Amino acid sequence: MPAITSSTCRLVVLISGRGSNMQTIVNTVREQGLPAQVCAVIANKADALGLHWAREQGIQATLVAHRDYATRKEFDQALAQAIDAHRPDYVLLAGFMRVLTPEFVEHFNGRLLNIHPSLLPAFPGLHTHEQALAAGVQWHGCTVHFVTPVLDHGPIVAQGAVPVLADDTPDTLAERILGVEHHLYAQVVRWLAEGRVSLDAMQRVHVHGVASRSFAVAPPESPWITTSKN
Ligand code: GAR
Repeated sequence: MPAITSSTCRLVVLISGRGSNMQTIVNTVREQGLPAQVCAVIANKADALGLHWAREQGIQATLVAHRDYATRKEFDQALAQAIDAHRPDYVLLAGFMRVLTPEFVEHFNGRLLNIHPSLLPAFPGLHTHEQALAAGVQWHGCTVHFVTPVLDHGPIVAQGAVPVLADDTPDTLAERILGVEHHLYAQVVRWLAEGRVSLDAMQRVHVHGVASRSFAVAPPESPWITTSKN
């Protein structure tokens, strides 16, 4: 766990597109008066819609375009430099669609988190909703996790589950899950800002004072089997 040196938890959010998770993070910090600040939003694509929204909010929003760099390594070095300028306690990937080099991940070890639209370790990579429908799983969801050099892998901070319905398409599933993603990332940001999140020597996550880090949308017309007493 990074030692948060000031009373404000400094956050840098990385995006590649729409940025709805980033918007939720910004709004959560502001509306709930968390001891946190979104210092910058950085995108790797010039047409990332979230950049405009962040600028309208008065947040420093920067483009570090991967196309401007010959290699992945050079891009990651430039990106790390742009991030470091803001001295973040945490770097939050929010729909950032680039594979990161091990050097980059190591540089931000224990400070880099991602949201992925599946219940990891199921369905890493792209097209997770198509993968879930093809596999016939009845629960799908999203995961906030610390980033390791292995793609879509790493210590899990929290998960949100949704039922898969008979007439679901990849789009309807994506929409159901996105609503949960926003709740999930907002909750994790609260925990980070409050300094509750730590990683132990086994690389397991602990969130001080929190018994459950699982969230779920109940299936329609389906009674819950039981409610845990613990
Ligand atoms: C979200 O569904 C996020 O989970 C996913 O991209 C979307 C971004 O939406 N991320 C990944 O697939 C990363 N592997 P947003 O730009 O509206 O937050």
